[in-house]
Amino acid sequence: MKYCPAFVFILSAVSLLSGSRACQEQSDGVADIMESTTGLLSADEDCIMSNGRCQDDSLRCNGSYLTGRCAGAKTRRCCTEYPIVKDTGFCSNIDIISRDSWGARRPKEVENMTLPVNYVLIHHTVTQGCSDTDRCMFVLKNIQELHMQQRGFSDIGYNFLVGGDGNIYEGRGWDRIGAHTLGYNDNSIAISFIGSFMLDNPPPSVLNASRALLKCATELSVLTQRYSLLGHRDVKKTLCPGDVLYRTIEEWPHYGGTQ
Ligand SMILES: *[C@@H]1O[C@H](CO)[C@@H](O)[C@H](O)[C@H]1NC(C)=O
Ligand SMILES: *[C@@H]1O[C@H](CO)[C@@H](O)[C@H](O)[C@H]1NC(C)=O
Ligand SMILES: *[C@@H]1O[C@H](CO)[C@@H](O)[C@H](O)[C@H]1NC(C)=O
Repeated sequence: MKYCPAFVFILSAVSLLSGSRACQEQSDGVADIMESTTGLLSADEDCIMSNGRCQDDSLRCNGSYLTGRCAGAKTRRCCTEYPIVKDTGFCSNIDIISRDSWGARRPKEVENMTLPVNYVLIHHTVTQGCSDTDRCMFVLKNIQELHMQQRGFSDIGYNFLVGGDGNIYEGRGWDRIGAHTLGYNDNSIAISFIGSFMLDNPPPSVLNASRALLKCATELSVLTQRYSLLGHRDVKKTLCPGDVLYRTIEEWPHYGGTQ
């Protein structure tokens, strides 16, 4: 079939090692799948027409994940070639880019958090920064991978992230227990600024976006009216969220200081 040349290329290397008839067997297998699942392929056309391809949503996706355009299991979803920027609709004063929009992988597991919570924890990601949306989405995917694959978390650790493009990105969201601050994972919203803020502040529009997120969180009663805002370093021996950003948040209303 037309897929064979690629298999020949990849599998001839395998054959060299294993001495098997790998390409022969593989191409027969592909032919069988294509013949027996015409229904599945035509259902996938909705995805193909959106310039995407259907894959298990635990995999990395270069673009965004779209629901309802692939046949088969619910976890088989349409991964578009390029990101499609969409607001979650959570807040009226600010856009929050949804997980599907930035192409987040499916979490390994989720634990609900009881709302409202009393704390906000401010972090920085200590990764590359980003100043445009495509780049921010790319960095977000890398952070999720770092957290899931190297740190063994079930998902990206933070509840929300703030990009250098001035967008807020949905991490675990409002009501999921996070993995960010020992002792505060189940009673706080963690907001992490993408980049490193030892020497510089995020731009004013980026700080502004995070203030708008806090306002929205109180309006939605995710945060109590008298919530306390802390830097990661207030509760753990760490440089996070960076010297300069830390001095900034110390001036914010609700800043609670060392606990
Ligand atoms: C998508 O993948 C292509 C090729 O691998 C790459 O050039 C492009 O930057 C990626 N886009 C995003 C948003 O990750
Ligand atoms: C967690 O919350 C979601 C709604 O956000 C609900 O559908 C789900 O059943 C909850 N899970 C548990 C274990 O309570
Ligand atoms: C700050 O955010 C508000 C909305 O919360 C917006 O109206 C205002 O223009 C923003 N200012 C800057 C400098 O981005």
